Amino acid sequence: MNTYMNSSATSSLQTKFHPDQPWLDNNGVHINAHGGGVLFHEGVYYWFGEHKTLVEEAEVGVHVYSSTDLYNWKDEGIALQVSDDPQSEITRGCIIERPKAIYNAATGKFVMWFHLERKGKGRKDGVSGVAVADTPVGPYVFQRAVRPDAGVWPLNVTEKQKAGLDEAQKLIGTAFWGSPHPDRAKMDFLGRDFHCGQMAKDMTLFVDDDGSAYHVFSSEENSALHISKLSDDYLSHSGKWVRIFEYLWHEAPALCKRDGRYWMLSSNCTGWDPNTARSAVADGIWGPWTELGNPCVGPTPHQRLGPALTFGGQSTYILPVQGRPGAFIAMFDVWRPNDHINGSYIWLPMKFESGRYTLEWRDSWDLSVFDQAGS
Ligand code: GAL
Repeated sequence: MNTYMNSSATSSLQTKFHPDQPWLDNNGVHINAHGGGVLFHEGVYYWFGEHKTLVEEAEVGVHVYSSTDLYNWKDEGIALQVSDDPQSEITRGCIIERPKAIYNAATGKFVMWFHLERKGKGRKDGVSGVAVADTPVGPYVFQRAVRPDAGVWPLNVTEKQKAGLDEAQKLIGTAFWGSPHPDRAKMDFLGRDFHCGQMAKDMTLFVDDDGSAYHVFSSEENSALHISKLSDDYLSHSGKWVRIFEYLWHEAPALCKRDGRYWMLSSNCTGWDPNTARSAVADGIWGPWTELGNPCVGPTPHQRLGPALTFGGQSTYILPVQGRPGAFIAMFDVWRPNDHINGSYIWLPMKFESGRYTLEWRDSWDLSVFDQAGS
């Protein structure tokens, strides 16, 4: 039972964001769209996210909500259902995380990608699922599970990495977790997964101005991020990709483009526990990417975790505000691993200045903050 059910709230229209507070949909139910992302299509925002129950395995699928003002969200139901077929790769009990959907103007299809751990494989599977729909809210039809970029070296591969392939293949079956390797930080997971495809965990999608779409994900046991261009129909990987931040351990990547530069928001790797957020910038999508440090600044809010712990949240998406060029909202989840369904959301405005961006806590705020200079 959702503890945030409150029928009296259905009538009150929201005019502000209230970070980390219960966020009620049009039915007065706390929004259930964790690890989510937002698609804008024909005047409407669609918020997709993990439908959580009490457990972290997917029992329902991906939930979608719609809004025209970003404050008030209408429940549009389940966009992607888990399957009742035990043979399905998205059978109930698999793990579906961080779903993102984008629109392909050339095919007229909506394409969803998500991090998938197939049932019974623990969290060692690290594959990506892709699903397609004819309308933004779905139903999305599952296509397949894939390990990206099998048999293709990244654009920035080194000769040493290529030469080490045979040695790296001996690592098949090993993982960072519990590995006996004497120098785990230097294990060649790129080579280990060269033939079978690269591991893909926390992820986002980013569509550039020219319509090229990119799948950005934590790979190599989370030790590096991969940026991989999708095919023109967005349904597979094009084989053009780079690895960035090798052995720097990022999760929860999110991306936006502003003033011709690419900006990233991500986290460290501490599971459901909050950690310090990270930011980075590049002049081109392939990099070089420069880390800019923790973007969260300002005082610790009353009775909350402070900026060193991302106010208790972990990034999931950067939302471009329509009709306000340069205005972006950083979206975070506050995970509640003992009560997943009531995990909450922190949305904060990104403030760009002096070659970086910052995120400051606000108890409540509205889009007019973007009218102020420097935002
Ligand atoms: C987090 C990750 C989440 C989820 C969790 C499981 O680090 O960002 O999406 O996978 O670990 O422990």
